[in-house]
Amino acid sequence: MMSQYKSVFKDETKLDINYVPYKLPHRDRELRLLTEFFSFILHAPGKMAQRIVIAGDVGSGKTVLSQRFGMNATREAEKRGINLHYVHVNCREYRGSLFLILYHAVSVFHPSFPKRGYSAEELLQILLQVLDEQDAYVILTLDEFESLIEREGTEAVYKLTRLQETRVNKPQRLSLICVMRNLKILEKLDASTRSTLQSNVIHLEKYSKRQLVDILSDRVSLAFKPLTVPEDTVSLIADIASSEGGNARFGIELLWRAGKYADADDLNVVTPECVRKAASSIYAVMRKSEAAYLSLHEKLFLLGIARFFKESERAYASLAEAEQAYAVVCEEFNVKPRSHTQLWKYLRTLSAVGFVKTEVSENIGSRGRSTIIYLPRISAHELEKELTALLEKDV
Ligand SMILES: Nc1ncnc2c1ncn2[C@@H]1O[C@H](COP(=O)(O)OP(=O)(O)OP(=O)(O)O)[C@@H](O)[C@H]1O
Ligand SMILES: [Mg+2]
Repeated sequence: MMSQYKSVFKDETKLDINYVPYKLPHRDRELRLLTEFFSFILHAPGKMAQRIVIAGDVGSGKTVLSQRFGMNATREAEKRGINLHYVHVNCREYRGSLFLILYHAVSVFHPSFPKRGYSAEELLQILLQVLDEQDAYVILTLDEFESLIEREGTEAVYKLTRLQETRVNKPQRLSLICVMRNLKILEKLDASTRSTLQSNVIHLEKYSKRQLVDILSDRVSLAFKPLTVPEDTVSLIADIASSEGGNARFGIELLWRAGKYADADDLNVVTPECVRKAASSIYAVMRKSEAAYLSLHEKLFLLGIARFFKESERAYASLAEAEQAYAVVCEEFNVKPRSHTQLWKYLRTLSAVGFVKTEVSENIGSRGRSTIIYLPRISAHELEKELTALLEKDV
């Protein structure tokens, strides 16, 4: 029975995609750089405006970095009596429409501003007028900037970056942060806009597995009760997120779902099997058809591996442990086990098809390097069920 009162979670909201953590592991340098680029805003607001580009792959922390910066900057400005607003718009949410984006910005200052009767250009003038009236400054983040360019072309960006030219001797009030996955989109812009933007690019590198472990561990302590998420579980999630291109979002979602599986199964601990279940639910593809194409001994070996993980709480198995499990399976099915070198080949096939993943680990103290095996996206239970069904036909 599922208990209503017991949960591994302390505060699930810390795993929400909109949550902006106070600390961003491995993005300190980028956060400092961003703060540096905007330092004028605290010392000489109005004297200049800034245009920054943040670029990086899916889940590399672009959105969260700009939001963290925005929160810090407005708090600092407030302390100094500077009326600074940080406005974050996702261009895709507004279908890339400059009008809707600007309308959103204006309505931050004028909540009941009429939606009809103005062009995008007029809205821009109105925004500047409002800022003048309120002696306010804005850092406008255009997240998923690509959709703005796709919809409006380069003209829109031109308007946004050149608006000061018609405002001689007036304070500069609008700075921009353009967030994009790929810098290629900048090539579409006219030379002068492009050069303005290209000179201030903050590039976010893909997270490595270790970096993902740090990010996830922080979230574990914010969102889960003490001792409910073992190190192996975090490591397995980081491995999977890392193979998904270092996508931190994928990792955090996996962590949340794994916790949900632990609660559903009434466990006190988020086990690696919870992670595998969560991963297979995300991928939603049980590779049934692919399993059918495996040779008899490949199936037996994979079944051994599945059994190993089903019966242990661990995320990783050594090759020796996998071999041992395979030997037990062979005995059960009454076939003679294949040699160690054969198993190596099977392992390579299984890993190429994506059933297992292997890694070479440096063993401190023991005899150098050894191969470790894990299931990246398949629940051991499901895999066992599937293989048993297939093997009953084979043997
Ligand atoms: N360094 C970090 N520390 C803590 N959490 C992070 C960090 N980097 C990313 N995250 C978290 O990972 C998830 C994805 O990050 P974010 O949304 O910023 O990625 P993104 O680069 O904007 O991706 P996309 O291109 O898909 O929009 C978010 O939940 C975010 O809070
Ligand atoms: Mg984003």
